[in-house]
Formats: sequence, structure tokens, C-alpha cells
Amino acid sequence: MRQMGRGMASVNLSGYKSILLVPCPYKEFICCKHYLNEQRAIVMKKTLLSILACPCCQGQIELKARETTENGEIISGTLQCLNCGAEFPIVEGVPCMLTGEQQIKPSEGFTEQWKYRFSGRFETNSLYGLNPTHRIEDVIAKFADPIQADEWILDAGCGSAEMTFAAAKSYPQAQIVGLELSEAVRLAAKEASSIPNLHFVQGDVTNPPFKQSTFSKVYSMGVLHHTSNTKAAFDAVSALVSEYGNLVIWLYPDPIECPANIPYYGIRDIVFMGMGHKLSPELRLWFVQFYTGIFLPFIIIAQSFGKEFYHFCQQYNFLVFDKQSLSEIYEATAFLDNLTLPEKFNALAFWIFDDVTPEFQFRHKKQEVINWFKANRFEEAHADTIGTYWGKRWH
Ligand SMILES: C[S@@+](CC[C@H](N)C(=O)[O-])C[C@H]1O[C@@H](n2cnc3c(N)ncnc32)[C@H](O)[C@@H]1O
Repeated sequence: MRQMGRGMASVNLSGYKSILLVPCPYKEFICCKHYLNEQRAIVMKKTLLSILACPCCQGQIELKARETTENGEIISGTLQCLNCGAEFPIVEGVPCMLTGEQQIKPSEGFTEQWKYRFSGRFETNSLYGLNPTHRIEDVIAKFADPIQADEWILDAGCGSAEMTFAAAKSYPQAQIVGLELSEAVRLAAKEASSIPNLHFVQGDVTNPPFKQSTFSKVYSMGVLHHTSNTKAAFDAVSALVSEYGNLVIWLYPDPIECPANIPYYGIRDIVFMGMGHKLSPELRLWFVQFYTGIFLPFIIIAQSFGKEFYHFCQQYNFLVFDKQSLSEIYEATAFLDNLTLPEKFNALAFWIFDDVTPEFQFRHKKQEVINWFKANRFEEAHADTIGTYWGKRWH
């Protein structure tokens, strides 16, 4: 852990107001539909305190709450490290556990992507073309052990937190925590106050603000490869997994091992020349929509030919190349099947925006990642061919 000086972690709060009662900011947020149209206080639940640690030095965190609700939940205040003295504000019910070096500009990277999503400018009935509840079910199915009462589960890099909400709803016996770098975490938290087992923290997966070995289950979907060092981020996240705990991650696969991703990588590397993150979000969105208009007809044509070809190969057991890859290519685009044309456009625009927005997008070989699992004492590590990895820690 990087050692930081006293007070290095304090955050400039200008631009924030201490909002205590807010209306729901977005209407299409899939997992929050039940909680719409209510006015309620946004709080940090006090149970969250028990698992927090200083991201600078792993020191113990003490609460200096300024406002609490009648039952002691925290509306606003400050968290302080008893070891190095670093202070972390609780902003709109979410502890901001970023160190001085981790501060992000409000408009940076994924913040705008999620804001656009919440305001309905991308796909609204799915996330990455999938239902968040189905996505979390796929993750849970990869955990070797069932979810027990009172265990802590971490969604590391939760983004719009739709999977986090789905997990909290499906597993009310467990405590679910969403960790996220971008400001999107605050939008998500506005909906979380009324859900007793759901918590949010703004923080960095490479320096996570939690005690080590806290979580019996951790998942991190599409996040670690967006840091400047995927392996370091992997090590930091795995240190949070308890003995006999489970870890599931998704990383961009190496293009040679997953050729289906080559067109997607090509948009980032060739069309946007790897510079998408340097464009202002509005300009980036404009370019993304322009290119989506160009690519969509090709994708629709390729997909319908691909579908016929896939069914032909299935029917006659005709193998042109590896059947599993063919099936994965088909499944990767199958979500477009059931969408109307405008929805197809919005879903594809979201994918492309997500592809070109991050500064870093590393792609990893299967054996490399399996070795990281082994080096972090996950003795059972598994992988599929599209970048999902899972394992159980034995000691
Ligand atoms: C591609 S999105 C995936 C979001 C979510 N896991 C999902 O699958 O729906 C990646 C997310 O990781 C977050 N992220 C990137 N770097 C991070 C970091 N160092 N710490 C925490 N979150 C990070 C981004 O802000 C973004 O919301």
C-alpha cells in the first residue's frame, strides 16, 4: 500500500451540496424501478464502517459524523484514519475514499458514460445487451459456495450498479457493497438508502478502502483492465477475498484467443486511434453515434448471415473452425436479435462508447490470468474462452 501524508486524502467538495432529500434522478434505471418517486434521506449505513480501512495505509477508520438519522445511519460527516490521519468525506451518503493521487475530474471517463445512460441516451432495457439480473446469476453460478447469511460480497468497479442492485435484491441475507471510482456511484447510491443490505463506496480498486480478507465473495466485471496495471489491480482485489472465498472477474481477452473481439478492438485502436478518451464526452458521443450509423447496417447483415451459418453448422455438424468460437461469436451478437432498430442503434452506441472511453484497455491471455490466480493462492482457477475467470481461495 502506498503511504500517504497526513491529510493527503481530503477531497475538494466544491460543487457538491449536502443533499439530504432527493427525487430519483433517472427513470429508466432498471433495478431501481421499485424505489422511484419517493423522497428519502441518502445515508451511509453504519454497518459499512466495520469493513472500511484507510486506502493510504490500511489504518483503522473512525467516524466523525455530523448528521445522523434517528436510527443512527450517517447522512454526512467525515471518516478519519487513526493511523495516518487522512480524512475522507461522506458526500451524499457515500464515503469518498480516494487518496490525493486518485482524484478524478468529475467529467472524466465513465462518469459521463453512466450519466448518458441514466438519462436514456443509450440502451435502456438492457446493460451490455443483457439483463443485469441474468448477469449476476451467471456470476453467482461461478461461486463455488452458496451465499450465506451476513456474508459480505463486493462488486469491484460496479459502474451503474445495476448488477449490484440485482444482487442485493436476490440475496437479502448478504451485505452487498459496490465500489466505484466514478461519480456514477453517487447516482446509484441515491436509490440504495432504502435497501438495507446495499452499500456504496467511492474508491479505487488498485488501492481499495477495505480491510484485507473482508469479503467471502468478490466479482469485478470489466474493470481491472481499465487501470494502469491490470496485474496490480488483480492483486489488490484478491487481497480482499477471505480464506476459502471466491473471486469472479471478466477481462478483455487477447484477440488471438478470442477473434470475435477483433472488430471491437479495431474500432478503438484504428477508428479512434486509441485517443477516444482525449475527446470531450459530447464530441466523443457525437463521433460514436456517427460511427454507429455506419457500422450498424454491416453488423445487422453480418449477424443475419452469421446466424444462418451458425444454424447450418449446428444442424449438419459442419465444422469450419472451432465450434466453440463460432458459438461464442454468435452469442456475443445474439442480444441484438430481439431489439428494434432504434434499440439496436442505442445498444451498439453504448458498446462503442464503452470501448473508446477508458484511457486503458489491456487485453490478456488466459494462461497469464490463470497464473495470477495461482500466485494469489486461488488453487482452483477456471476460465472460459471469452474472458471470464473464477476461482476459490484455499488459504
Ligand atoms: C466497463 S465498466 C463495467 C461496470 C460494471 N462492472 C458492469 O459490468 O456493469 C468499468 C467500470 O469500472 C470503473 N473503474 C475503472 N477504473 C476503476 C478503478 N481504478 N477503481 C474503481 N472503479 C474503476 C469505471 O468507472 C466503470 O464504471
